[in-house]
Amino acid sequence: MKRRVAILISGRGSNMTALIEAARAADFPASIALVVSNVANAAGLTAAREAGIATAVVDHKGFGKDREAFERALQEALDAHGIEIVCLAGFMRLLTPWFVRQWEGRMLNIHPALLPAFKGLDTHARALAAGVRIHGATVHFVIPEMDSGPIIMQGAVAVGDDDTEQSLAARVLAVEHAIYPAALRLVASGAVVLRDGRCSGPGHKAEPPPPLIMPVL
Ligand code: GAR
Repeated sequence: MKRRVAILISGRGSNMTALIEAARAADFPASIALVVSNVANAAGLTAAREAGIATAVVDHKGFGKDREAFERALQEALDAHGIEIVCLAGFMRLLTPWFVRQWEGRMLNIHPALLPAFKGLDTHARALAAGVRIHGATVHFVIPEMDSGPIIMQGAVAVGDDDTEQSLAARVLAVEHAIYPAALRLVASGAVVLRDGRCSGPGHKAEPPPPLIMPVL
């Protein structure tokens, strides 16, 4: 049985689209049953509808400062669609410990940096300013602390002398689109599980590839 997944978005939804496309494969262990946005005019909602996915809007502005009321509405939408796994994909709301606990080990996030480096916003500009030679993206299980939690998968890119925020963002985004579906596959199939606060399972046992070294030797 395919696991029923909801994707939570706030904007463009390119990671959402990568997940929707991957989930079309007959052997993919999850189906995208719902896309929820906290922003009524998010571009990703249009793309989800065009892809034939059920959508819902839970606008945080309607709940004022009451975060838990917003999250109870979110939870109702997820329950109404029998959701088993939640993927945050550019969902720009902080979630309370109450909500995160409901989804422990079943809620994933993607972040455009090699965590635990560069949590928060403007990750590519900050990576360039720090002069890192290797940057990338991370898929992790969500815990109450922002952009933290057990790491499921990471992908890295070399940073060149000529890179700009835009060029780096484009290369990292391509990595995001590759690793998010792959990470969801691992979790939905049970190949990776959360145990004692870390990811474990056969998904981590393949031979590692050669190291990425920058500048090139
Ligand atoms: C992505 O780069 C994602 O990693 C980032 O927002 C972007 C959403 O793009 N998420 C975070 O920064 C979370 N801390 P998308 O809407 O095209 O997927």
